[in-house]
Amino acid sequence: MADATELLDSGERLDGAALRALQLERLRASLRLAYDHVPFYRESFDKAGVHPDDCRSLADLARFPLTTKADLRENYPYGMFAVPRDRIRRIHASSGTTGRPTVVGYTDGDLSLWSDMVARSLRAAGARPGDTVHVAYGYGLFTGGLGAHYGAERLGCTVVPASGGMTARQVQLIQDLKPRVIMVTPSYMLTILDEFERQGVDPRGTSLEVGVFGAEPWTEQMRAEIEERFAIDAVDIYGLSEVIGPGVAQECVETKDGLHVWEDHFYPEIVDPVTGEVLPDGERGELVFTSLTKEAMPVIRYRTRDLTRLLPGTARVFRRMEKVTGRSDDLVILRGVNLFPTQIEEIVLRTPGVAPHFQLRLTREGRLDALTVRAEARPGATPEEREAAVRSIAAAVKDGIGVSVTVEVVEPESLERSVGKIRRIVDLRNAR
Ligand code: DLL
Repeated sequence: MADATELLDSGERLDGAALRALQLERLRASLRLAYDHVPFYRESFDKAGVHPDDCRSLADLARFPLTTKADLRENYPYGMFAVPRDRIRRIHASSGTTGRPTVVGYTDGDLSLWSDMVARSLRAAGARPGDTVHVAYGYGLFTGGLGAHYGAERLGCTVVPASGGMTARQVQLIQDLKPRVIMVTPSYMLTILDEFERQGVDPRGTSLEVGVFGAEPWTEQMRAEIEERFAIDAVDIYGLSEVIGPGVAQECVETKDGLHVWEDHFYPEIVDPVTGEVLPDGERGELVFTSLTKEAMPVIRYRTRDLTRLLPGTARVFRRMEKVTGRSDDLVILRGVNLFPTQIEEIVLRTPGVAPHFQLRLTREGRLDALTVRAEARPGATPEEREAAVRSIAAAVKDGIGVSVTVEVVEPESLERSVGKIRRIVDLRNAR
């Protein structure tokens, strides 16, 4: 990949000192906007005894209270908005697993910022003006489809708004329209891969050169598998609706060493998930974001529940976040052992005879929690290969993670497929 320095935008060209000065100026304005226009923030700052004027350095942000998804839910639907309703140009919502969704709003300025950030992300991923971009993230209330769409247009690309689903058609569109870039969840990319193979089409022979994958955790092993089977560069894009959507952080194709956080607009901190205390760069904990320039719905110290750590910049001046390996609420504690679905993914991916589609089922037997790993057999795997996979996955989980689990190898394509995010954990512990 040629050096892309000449393509950087003005934010990406700042030096460290200029970046910090800009962040402080924007942070103070964002705290003030929240305090002056959102009753929730005024109350929570007052209760904590802090005022926007108390923020004189970036470190002072730690004095302000954290905000949670529950706070957003309690102010459903429009209570967190800082501008009059006639300035809200678009609504999105995040798919809550329980109860009400979280509604987010955008002004014209927010939509423009979002497009700029996705365009910047796509450029970092290796996309260029004139490329054709196949968007297979879902369109609708989910931020993936429309966020990717407007960002690709902003960069000057041709967009194919395929959305999710109808996998056979995805394969046809890719063959006929010859996109150079695809944007999709990594789990749905694997479903598309299965469909290429079902149709007898070589996935390495397509026009695709770059895949921009996000919206759910995925591992280095999955990157290796996708890159090898499609002959593309696979890079990670991160974001969440509450902060803006996709385009909060992006991995650069030239380094593939974690995601640069676009911290001239979204200020990251890492906190201890239990105490909420700020941790130094390099230490693992929960990622927290403060929006610096958003208008409709500023977020102050929003707890993402995503676990990662901050590292110094490489390909860009901005700090990187390590690939998100799990969420603090995804953590399965099985008989005292902490386990994330991504750890199982790594094992399943290196086991011959099984496909990278798996699900974890938690049940309770008497007073003990039990975990069953269900993985799909690869098409054509023999009964002996399936047996060997059962033994090898169980042994690897026991040796590597330290718990005994039951393993079932099920028929190819028998696990529920998701066009958006795959449901990795089915928790039946409290089911009757
Ligand atoms: O998933 C936004 C998005 C769309 C990001 C398309 C990237 C691509 P939400 O539906 O609000 O927004 O879900 C946000 O998804 O807190 C993470 O737990 C998870 N997530 C998003 N990107 C990644 C990633 C979109 N690259 C939640 N790696 C976040 C791991 C991710 N987890």
